Order: sequence, then C-alpha cells, then structure tokens
Amino acid sequence: MRIAIFNTKPYDQRFFEEANAVHQHELVFLEPHLNLHTARLADGCAAICTFVNDPLDTATLELLATFGVKLVALRCAGFNQVDLNAAQRLGITVARVPAYSPYAVAEHAVALLLTLNRNIHRAYNRVREGNFALEGLLGFDLHGKTVGVVGTGKIGAIFARIIGGFGTTVLAYDPQPNTELEGAAVQYVPLERLLQQSDIVSLHCPLTPQTQHLINTESLKRMKPSAMLVNTSRGALVDTPAVIEALKSGRLGALALDVYEEEGDLFFENLSDRVIQDDVFMRLLTFPNVLITGHQAFFTREALTGIACTTLENVTAFESGTGTLHRVTAS
Ligand code: NAI
Repeated sequence: MRIAIFNTKPYDQRFFEEANAVHQHELVFLEPHLNLHTARLADGCAAICTFVNDPLDTATLELLATFGVKLVALRCAGFNQVDLNAAQRLGITVARVPAYSPYAVAEHAVALLLTLNRNIHRAYNRVREGNFALEGLLGFDLHGKTVGVVGTGKIGAIFARIIGGFGTTVLAYDPQPNTELEGAAVQYVPLERLLQQSDIVSLHCPLTPQTQHLINTESLKRMKPSAMLVNTSRGALVDTPAVIEALKSGRLGALALDVYEEEGDLFFENLSDRVIQDDVFMRLLTFPNVLITGHQAFFTREALTGIACTTLENVTAFESGTGTLHRVTAS
C-alpha cells in the first residue's frame, strides 16, 4: 500500500525503512506536518501515517477523503488529536500503536529525577569550564525517601519497581490498582495522602477531563515544600502558572518535565535561532531547580522499532484483512 508519512524526521525514515523490509509497502516520506495546506501531498496514497502533533480535524479528514485516503495509521498511542466521528462518517479507518517500550518512558522519568536531584546537568557544564566547585550541587539520598506514583498502568508500574529498588517507600494512586504491584511492596493510598507524604511525585496517568490540571494551586499546597514533581505523561496534567508560583514562593522543591501543555508550538523542532514567544515556558527555564526535556521519553531504539513495526502491521492488516489491526473507533 502507498503510505504518505507526514512530519518525518530522519530517525522516522530509518526505523520505518528497516521495519518495511517484511511488509514491502510503498513509503512516501514527507517533512511537513499534516494540515489543510499539506493534505494534498497524500493524493494517490490510500494510507497516511501521522504523529501526535498532526491535527486530524473534520476539515482535514474531509480533504484527505477526497484524495482517496482510507486509512490513518497513527504512529503514537494517543488519539485525542483525531475527530473519530468525522473519520467514521467519511469511511476512514483509524489505527494506532497502543503500546511500545514502556521501559523507555519509565527509565527517562528516573533519569530526569536523578539528574535534577544530583544536579548532573549543571555539573556537566561546570566541569567543562574548569569549575570544580560543589556549591549549588547538593542533592539528597533517594534511599529512605517516599515516592508517589500517580497512575500505575504499563509505565507507572515499571517506574514503581525501578524506584523501589533504590530503597524508597513507594506510594501509589490509581482508580484501578495493579494487584501485582501491591505484592511488590507498593502501597496504594488516596491521592491526598500520596501528595502529602511523598518526597517525589511522578505522574503516569493519561490526560482525561478528570486528570486535567491534577497538579494545581490546591494540590500543590498539600505537597511537601521540598517535594520534587516529575511529569513524563501529558503536559496538561499540570497547571503550569500554578507550578511557577509554587516554585517562586518555595512551595515546590524541584520540577522535572518531559511534556508541556503548550508543547505543540515548540517541541520536536530546532528553534535555536528563533525568538520563542511562550513566556510561561521561558519563565520555567529560568529556575535552577527545573529540568526540561522536549518529549523525548519515548525516544529509544526499542520504542522506535516497536512504533514502526506496529504501524506497518496495522497497514498490512487493513490491506489484507488478516493480522491485528489496532483500530480506534468513536465509541
Ligand atoms: P496505561 O493506560 O497503561 O496506564 C495509565 C494508568 O493511569 C491506568 O492504570 C489508569 O487506571 C490510570 N489512571 C486513569 N485515571 C487516573 C487518575 N485519575 N489518577 C490516577 N491514575 C489514573 O498508560 P501508559 O502506557 O502507562 O502511559 C501513561 C501515560 O504516559 C500516557 O497516558 C501518556 O500520556 C504518557 N506517555 C508519554 C510518553 C513520552 O514520550 N513522554 C510516551 C508514551 C506515553
């Protein structure tokens, strides 16, 4: 099948070409994001492949349908960017990659936490400049601390096991507790208690109307003033202006982010020669106790291989009617 792959980076091309050796689809790699102006690039392709920040709204889907697109193969797990009702009405099938290396994201959360606590990012720069002073690099032992894990699905469960290995007490909150974790010395508690008792809070729940701004002015007041907050899940779990106020007033100890509510205008692109217009994001960068990566938690060889393989398996299953099609429907 001829597939238009939008928003392609060199690493996407590499992993898709490798995975395509067994599928033999015709891959058309396109640099632009998908939008109303670029949709025509899919003309002649029965399938398109898009990423988290390619909006598939009604107008774009209608345009794609006129070019004969029958399948949208998302190369991500989330599908909140797709108007599924419009896709269904237009007879366009939507498929996604429900899971790919949860270890990648859990390990990145641990990497952020350790880097921020021990100021590795600052030490790296200092040592390169011949500055071996330790002032400002003081951290704390993880051993003996309490870590709160919000959401213990695939990623949160792995994070809980890794962080438990440091000799921490692990508290968890999830409306659907994982019974295997309870046996692994993880204690499920109400969210309120988790926030009050944790030295580190790591977010691993999905973004839903219930979890939007889960961390806000009120929940920040319940946390320890020295606490570290880690978010590798979705930016909108955190009310960023509220977190900035808490950092300014010393009511939050440290913040590590891989995701940001308004990341769509920033992440995945090199903006180093532009004036960034997002003042909230730029304020975050000024804190010595804030560490940010640009949505790279998933970015491992294993995860990219898994994403490319499952995406192309979806296309093959759609075309042949056999195999597993990870279909997403409006219901
Ligand atoms: P999952 O679906 O396996 O687990 C999510 C867990 O959150 C479930 O156990 C669910 O019961 C729980 N949950 C739902 N509502 C909750 C609430 N109100 N409070 C606490 N827990 C709640 O999802 P998975 O694969 O573990 O992914 C977690 C999140 O990680 C994703 O939703 C996504 O936002 C994020 N993610 C980030 C990536 C990155 O590169 N930064 C890459 C992949 C996922």
